[in-house]
Amino acid sequence: MPACHGVLSGNIFKRYFVVYFLCHGGMYIFLDEGVGMELRTAYWQVDPVEPRSEIIDRAGMILRRGGLVAFPTETVYGLGASALDGRAVRRIFEVKGRPPDNPLIVHVAGREMLRPLVRSWPATAEKLMAAFWPGPLTLVLPAAPGVPREVTAGLDTVGIRMPAHPVALALIASAGIPVAAPSANLSGRPSPTTAGHVLQDLNGRIDAILDAGPAGVGVESTVLDLVADVPVILRPGGITPEELEKVIGKVKVDPGADGGDVSRPRSPGMKYRHYAPRVPLVLVEGEPERVAARLKELADNYRALGRRVGILATAETAGKLNGGQVVVAGSRQNPAAIASRLFAALRQLEGRGVDVILAEGIEPRGLGLAVMNRLRRAAGGHIERV
Ligand code: TXA
Ligand code: MG
Repeated sequence: MPACHGVLSGNIFKRYFVVYFLCHGGMYIFLDEGVGMELRTAYWQVDPVEPRSEIIDRAGMILRRGGLVAFPTETVYGLGASALDGRAVRRIFEVKGRPPDNPLIVHVAGREMLRPLVRSWPATAEKLMAAFWPGPLTLVLPAAPGVPREVTAGLDTVGIRMPAHPVALALIASAGIPVAAPSANLSGRPSPTTAGHVLQDLNGRIDAILDAGPAGVGVESTVLDLVADVPVILRPGGITPEELEKVIGKVKVDPGADGGDVSRPRSPGMKYRHYAPRVPLVLVEGEPERVAARLKELADNYRALGRRVGILATAETAGKLNGGQVVVAGSRQNPAAIASRLFAALRQLEGRGVDVILAEGIEPRGLGLAVMNRLRRAAGGHIERV
């Protein structure tokens, strides 16, 4: 028996748990429903509200030297590199397996970091920054010539946001440079809302990870194109169209943004199947009664074929579905709760070894629009309307 020393820490009430062991000089970590692995990336737990400055400074130094650090934001975990260092940014694309034509969002800790990155910004941008920054809103603006083409994927615009998470803001401020960061998952997989999800995908491929517990919003930022005459939502996210319209009036939602027509993508990210678990996902949309009936029917059909079925349901239908692997994302009355559990629920069902996931759609209003965008993209065309 190897000598092992164990450490248990975390907050059970936040459903957040870490156990790690030192065996043979190696670190083993168990996170999120018993995922266990040997740590091959520097792992630092930090307080989500008041992170220790020595740890933040170490992570900031890694970024300044061209390394990759995963960090929490209020939406999902991001994989950061210096936005001024084309080589470091290329490593992000390599470790994620990301298509090279899909640009990255640049994260800033304050307005003064924005100035050298963009050529100009309209008055609407001022209003939006005042209303929603720090927060889950990415503004697409004309890029300054100095922004590396690795960040913009050759476009003449750049997406910028100021995240509303004390750890993200402290890290960017400590590094003293803008930080390019996509979601910290392998390309195409559900975005990570815990450090455990990041390690499932990227352990050993990145230099360090800061673990501050689960991300809150659970879906990514809203991407808003301010270069067009009327602002256009390219990706629905944490700030809803209704909230934006209260501040700047009419916004359009790009046809590709609800997971629908992507024949002429305005944002490269729209083109790709995304957010997808490793097994097929079938999405059923409609009124709760009819959806429940169809989910039951589909589940029975798959089981008759010997398939193990996982169901992602709402509180409204869960009681009508018999047994099996049912994960309740939340109530249809509360899309914010569903958003915050969505990606974790997909990974959870996949982790239980199901062969197919049946998912229930919700009303595409408010945060429900972002939820449905992710589910439709994850379904990759397997959508039924009942
Ligand atoms: O909440 C978030 O936005 C998270 C956290 C880490 O900040 N980040 C994130 O990044 O979701 P990523 O790379 O997974 O998604 C960025 C999206 C992609 O769909 C990309 O195509 C789009 O933003 N995007 C970035 N820059 C753009 C630009 N200049 N023009 C159009 N779309 C852009
Ligand atoms: Mg992503």
